[in-house]
Amino acid sequence: MWSLLIFLFVFSTTKVVGEHILIFHHVASYSHRVQTMPLAEALAKRGHQLTFLSPFYPKEPNVNITEIIPQKLEKYIDETLNKELDINLRVQKKMDKLSYILYELGKGACDALYKSPEFKRWLLKTTKVDLIIIDNRFPECGIGLAYKLGAKYIIFNTVTVFAHEYFALGFLPESSAVPELEINSPKPPMNFLGRVSNEIMTLGWRWSHLQYSKIMDSMIRKRLLVPDMPYIEDLYRNVSLVLHTGDYVTDYPRTLPPLYVNVAGIHCKLPENISLPVELESFLNTIINGQKDDGFVYISLGSLVVSSNLPHNIKNRFFDTIKSFPNLKFLWKWNGAQPKDIPSNLYLSKWFPQLEILAHPRIRGFITQSGRPSSMEALYNGVPMITFPILGDQDFNSNRFNTMGGNIKLEIGSFTSEELISAVNTLVYEPSMKLQMKKLQTIFRDRPMTPVDTAVWWTEYVLRTEDTSHLRPTGNYQYWFQRRQLDVWLFLLGVMLAAIYGLAFLSNIVARRVWKEIIKSSKPKLA
Ligand SMILES: *[C@@H]1O[C@H](CO)[C@@H](O)[C@H](O)[C@H]1NC(C)=O
Ligand SMILES: *[C@@H]1O[C@H](CO)[C@@H](O)[C@H](O)[C@H]1NC(C)=O
Ligand SMILES: *[C@@H]1O[C@H](CO)[C@@H](O)[C@H](O)[C@H]1NC(C)=O
Repeated sequence: MWSLLIFLFVFSTTKVVGEHILIFHHVASYSHRVQTMPLAEALAKRGHQLTFLSPFYPKEPNVNITEIIPQKLEKYIDETLNKELDINLRVQKKMDKLSYILYELGKGACDALYKSPEFKRWLLKTTKVDLIIIDNRFPECGIGLAYKLGAKYIIFNTVTVFAHEYFALGFLPESSAVPELEINSPKPPMNFLGRVSNEIMTLGWRWSHLQYSKIMDSMIRKRLLVPDMPYIEDLYRNVSLVLHTGDYVTDYPRTLPPLYVNVAGIHCKLPENISLPVELESFLNTIINGQKDDGFVYISLGSLVVSSNLPHNIKNRFFDTIKSFPNLKFLWKWNGAQPKDIPSNLYLSKWFPQLEILAHPRIRGFITQSGRPSSMEALYNGVPMITFPILGDQDFNSNRFNTMGGNIKLEIGSFTSEELISAVNTLVYEPSMKLQMKKLQTIFRDRPMTPVDTAVWWTEYVLRTEDTSHLRPTGNYQYWFQRRQLDVWLFLLGVMLAAIYGLAFLSNIVARRVWKEIIKSSKPKLA
């Protein structure tokens, strides 16, 4: 009896001594944090010691996670990434190339982070970190830190596969069939010119990343005082694992090495109960002018777009559409100044409980900018979409869903009221789209393990496995042209050309001889 009690006592007090895990975000937007947090919380719950380094104050802090918010980094991100995006840039088709913006951000944010006193203090007093989980948008800054601390590192990929990853980790880009991530990325199936432009994008990303790596390599050496560090790309190549939030509905099916583990929809969950704020609930329940109640459509163009900056004519196209559906209600996540003449079936608010809204039984559609987390939440709840991509990966996401039949894609600068009215009609009143989205939802949710459990299992796998190089692509050590067999093709082509030339040369000689003989034999003999 006593021994049992003692055993129980010892068992319940000997906690697994968890390992120290650092989550590293420097140039990520808050949406990356939303997708990484469920993993951090699950790991903390299992007794690991968790530190979250990022430019954001958590909206819902967790007592088991230590947050570090370096002030210089916070300021830098606030002034660049979170700067109010003027929607008119998209309307006037003046968006910069994605790669150009991102590399500037990657460099600037890393510099700001390394210079922050909060980061320096943390580095001084930190003796041991076992693992760093680094946001994929651009990982070098975190990989340098992992080298300094002697920690393993995992990359957490919240966007689709960037073209530089094939080159850095050593696997083949499928640029013949899978479009690259760009603002004007092509949509499959690609014709010859589409494939040409896609290949140029692949190479362009690689070229810019090569320049970026050089700059980052010298910055890391200098700021972290690690003059003997191997070249940063060689460290990148040896990453232990990539947790990737892309599956075959939200992302094109492509061949990824075993190093990539699919944790798509890791942040998706059902609300505990669907209770909306009182004012919103009463708006949804109000019968306007004795109209029928066909449910509601939710509009959100993301947190970066300031709705009040929408040009008048575009705002009016939205309002005209809303007025022409008196049996529907519309909720619009609206930031900036409130307009005066809003239709009576429209409800504006700076904030909506998106989880509850998308899971609501009376939601009929979602008008969205097609950000990745929002798209996945819509998919998780089987809500069909109308998309107005604005920036970043939104065109890419929207194109993919479009090929799967889950959305209607419109262009914010040039759509007409008729197009939007017809799109809302299809979304709400034609069952085919809703049915298709339900099918995709079933596929999306049907997995052997939840994405959080998958991510936790693989993270601990990396912790307990000394070396995960058996998961790396076999071509990891090769040059890009070897991996594509370009040298072999060139060699074979050379051999073939030489053979043809040789054959032609020989037949020429033979032909001349024969010709000579013919001429000789046909000459009249003088005797
Ligand atoms: C904090 O960790 C403890 C022990 O690991 C766990 O029981 C608790 O639920 C965690 N709290 C939160 C908010 O996750
Ligand atoms: C990467 O891993 C290989 C073996 O898996 C090892 O030989 C090499 O030294 C590593 N490179 C770096 C820069 O750590
Ligand atoms: C339902 O959710 C609201 C907030 O969203 C919360 O205040 C309330 O306690 C919840 N009720 C139950 C029964 O969980």
